[in-house]
Amino acid sequence: MNKRSKIGIFDSGLGGISVLKDIHKILPNEDIIYIGDSANAPYGIKTKQEVYQLSRKICEELIENDCKIIVIACNTATSAAVNRLRQELPVPIIGMEPAVKPALVGTEGKILVLATEMTLKEEKFNLLLENFDDHYRVIKEAAPEWVDLVENHLEDQQRVKATVKQVLDRVEAKVNAVVLGCTHFIFLKDEIDAYYQQSVDIYDGNMGTATHLRNTLISQGLQNDKTEQGTVEIHNSHTQDYLSKSIDLYHQLK
Ligand code: DGL
Repeated sequence: MNKRSKIGIFDSGLGGISVLKDIHKILPNEDIIYIGDSANAPYGIKTKQEVYQLSRKICEELIENDCKIIVIACNTATSAAVNRLRQELPVPIIGMEPAVKPALVGTEGKILVLATEMTLKEEKFNLLLENFDDHYRVIKEAAPEWVDLVENHLEDQQRVKATVKQVLDRVEAKVNAVVLGCTHFIFLKDEIDAYYQQSVDIYDGNMGTATHLRNTLISQGLQNDKTEQGTVEIHNSHTQDYLSKSIDLYHQLK
């Protein structure tokens, strides 16, 4: 593999499409392959070992397809597998984690981190919190319903509204900022914003991840030097319908 090789990105399904979009935006000359594993979604309620095995299999596929670097566009798979994958695989691996730092720095008051059960319970996230003296300001809420909502019911406006409300109603504290610690949730951003009547700041890890990827490519001499627009190839392990949904979501994003 060399600088003309591709960037591989994967997620448990549709969530990582928003990460793909931001990566293509800041690295327009890179060729990218995206794999969404909707056939095995959700990852968030599986065991750590299961998520590691699924992630490892996708990484192998990406490497066979000439990827020079891999982005895990999934907070859950990052918590479960990034350390092991970094040790085992011959390419750099970029992971994702909830954007707690910018939220704590940018907001006073309470920060609500929404993610999968696995992300919130795993050591990675809890060690991240320990870095901040004011981590007592962080409230955690798992929202497995939202993963199912984005994978399977995003076109049902009423259901989206009701399911967003159902989860946020569970949070009793008054919050000043929300961190979307699962890439699927980015597709619910407008609805979350509406629930809070535009009164909270909403953070996600997408741009931070895309920037970290760009810096890593530069520092490792792996940035593609071609001048024409890069290609974006989207795959999904589930039915044709999930592939079509992935492509539609990609084009809907600005
Ligand atoms: N998109 C994934 C994340 O960022 C999780 C969704 C799932 O449970 O499969 O955590």
